Amino acid sequence: MAGTSGSDLWWTLLLPLLCLTVCFAEVVVSVPEFVEAELLKNIVIPCTHTITERPADYSVQWFIKDKNEERRRIAYRDEIGTSIDRNTEYTEKISVDQDFSLRITGVEVTDERVFYCQVMAGAAGNGEGMTSLKVYALPELQEVKKNEGTLSVTESSASEIGTCVGKNGNPAPTITWYKNGKVLPATTERNNDMYLVSRTVKEASGLYSVSSTLYLRPNKQDKDSEFYCRLQYLMPQGKTESVDSEVFSLKLHYYTENVKFELLSPLLIKEGDNVTLRCQADGYPPPTYDIYKVIDNTNEEILPNLEGLLVLEHVTKESSGTYQCQSLDFDSPPDILQIKDVDIFVNYLDPLILEPSKEAKVPFEGDLEMSCTGHGSKPVQLKWKKGEKLLSSSSTLSLKSLTYHSAGLYTCEASVPEVPGLHRSQSVHVIVQGKPKIEEKPYKSHVSKEGEKVTLTCLVFGHPKPEIFWSVPGVQPSMNHSRDLIMSTLTMEVTQKLIQSGVSCSASNSHGTTHHSFHLSMVPSTAAPSRAPIGTQQQGGSSTAVIAVIVCVLVLLLLVGLFYFLQKKGKLHCGKSEKKSLTHKEANTNEIVEMKTDKQHEHRGLLASGGGGHSGDQC
Ligand SMILES: *[C@@H]1O[C@H](CO)[C@@H](O)[C@H](O)[C@H]1NC(C)=O
Ligand SMILES: *[C@@H]1O[C@H](CO)[C@@H](O)[C@H](O)[C@H]1NC(C)=O
Repeated sequence: MAGTSGSDLWWTLLLPLLCLTVCFAEVVVSVPEFVEAELLKNIVIPCTHTITERPADYSVQWFIKDKNEERRRIAYRDEIGTSIDRNTEYTEKISVDQDFSLRITGVEVTDERVFYCQVMAGAAGNGEGMTSLKVYALPELQEVKKNEGTLSVTESSASEIGTCVGKNGNPAPTITWYKNGKVLPATTERNNDMYLVSRTVKEASGLYSVSSTLYLRPNKQDKDSEFYCRLQYLMPQGKTESVDSEVFSLKLHYYTENVKFELLSPLLIKEGDNVTLRCQADGYPPPTYDIYKVIDNTNEEILPNLEGLLVLEHVTKESSGTYQCQSLDFDSPPDILQIKDVDIFVNYLDPLILEPSKEAKVPFEGDLEMSCTGHGSKPVQLKWKKGEKLLSSSSTLSLKSLTYHSAGLYTCEASVPEVPGLHRSQSVHVIVQGKPKIEEKPYKSHVSKEGEKVTLTCLVFGHPKPEIFWSVPGVQPSMNHSRDLIMSTLTMEVTQKLIQSGVSCSASNSHGTTHHSFHLSMVPSTAAPSRAPIGTQQQGGSSTAVIAVIVCVLVLLLLVGLFYFLQKKGKLHCGKSEKKSLTHKEANTNEIVEMKTDKQHEHRGLLASGGGGHSGDQC
């Protein structure tokens, strides 16, 4: 009995458990705890379930809680099909899939609620699961409304800086303010330095709009500060995203604390430069500036400036000295006058002192010493030049035995090596005095016919200025003169008489008279190439002579030959051997050949043949 009673007890304990599983079959419904969706997207809420015993029939129902917190069915599905409940807010936008998932199209914020999936399996019982739908809406950041006015750093309380608005987000976004890239640790408590006024509004659509206004008491450093706001919002899967507004800065009024007065350019000043000075105060708006040149301790010369900028045009050495800028900022708390000085120094080179100063008269073949003195703010370098030619690299120039070609302008050039671009130059005119000297210009000395025009030019040097005469009466010479030279040109028609008399020019001044003759000759046009240049004329003449000599020799030979022939005819009474005369004839022909081929031997040939002829004559 004791053994059965132990067995009975075990059954008594086990039976209710068995009954739970066997007598009451179980329905287990599994749905996700929550489902996330972006606004206006379509989503599916799954509803899976397990039933321990295969039921005869079962169905699934989807429920929501309505505004009055009452459960309300929105859909039903069994083996036969789906039925969507009429007149609910979901009637138009849901369906139930074959696996009993609820499908919602175009999710809205109002769909953010709990959905129930209930499974009824007849005798096997019922089961239910619930899921929360979360809806995310991307907010839109509006343009910052910034304070367009001018703020003063002397203000005693915080001023409105700007307002940032983020519209239509879900969940509600947040706004943070930044200055120069750093978060502003602003409180929402009103105070004199910095605080925020924030607002969150739930729109009719159910979405949230937030706004945040920053109040700040700016200091002077804020003239360069950059502000912006950041809108932060949540997205599915716990992601936080953000968008930044454009950066803006403030228009600030601040008083002057420091004034700077400086030389902008050039740093090394020379006479003639344009010098720029600038006076600048760190207040805004900028104060007025007065710039003066300090003449002595009590006197000043006011100089006009443009917003602190002073340009001294074309400075001279007198521009050196102290300049002063005075700036008065009425916004400054104590109304103080700020004064700053700048000293400038203008490098200069005084006019050169030349000895002789402007003009030097030297007798022909005389000597001349010249000197140049330059004084400037820095050591001066001197040199003497004539035209482009460097004559001396010192302050003095020694000229010996001057000719007329030495006359002209001698220039002393001065420069200051330490100050590039600073230089001066001054000239002396050297005049060489003496009897006139005449130089001819190349001319055509051979004319081919009478009446041909010839141009003759005399270049006349000398000082005092000589007078020039031509030996040809009735023709006017043309004159062209520089300071040291006269050019007299005569153009005339050549006549036989002129060739005979010759043409000359003469020049005279108080030192004497000089003559110069030109040689003209007439060459027949066939023999003289009329346009032959002077240099080749001589060569043409000699070749003509050679031709003439050859012609004469040939004529002479012909005569000799003829004479020989006649002599041979009447040689009976002469009594000379034929053989001898034959050798003579041979020699003659040989000579002719030689003469023709070698002009240089023409003379020898002539003599030889003459000799031959003579020997023949002797018989
Ligand atoms: C100085 O300024 C004047 C007027 O602006 C200008 O004509 C001149 O060329 C300038 N001179 C120099 C050396 O820059
Ligand atoms: C005078 O001579 C100069 C240089 O030799 C020349 O340039 C100028 O044209 C001449 N003037 C006349 C009027 O012939």
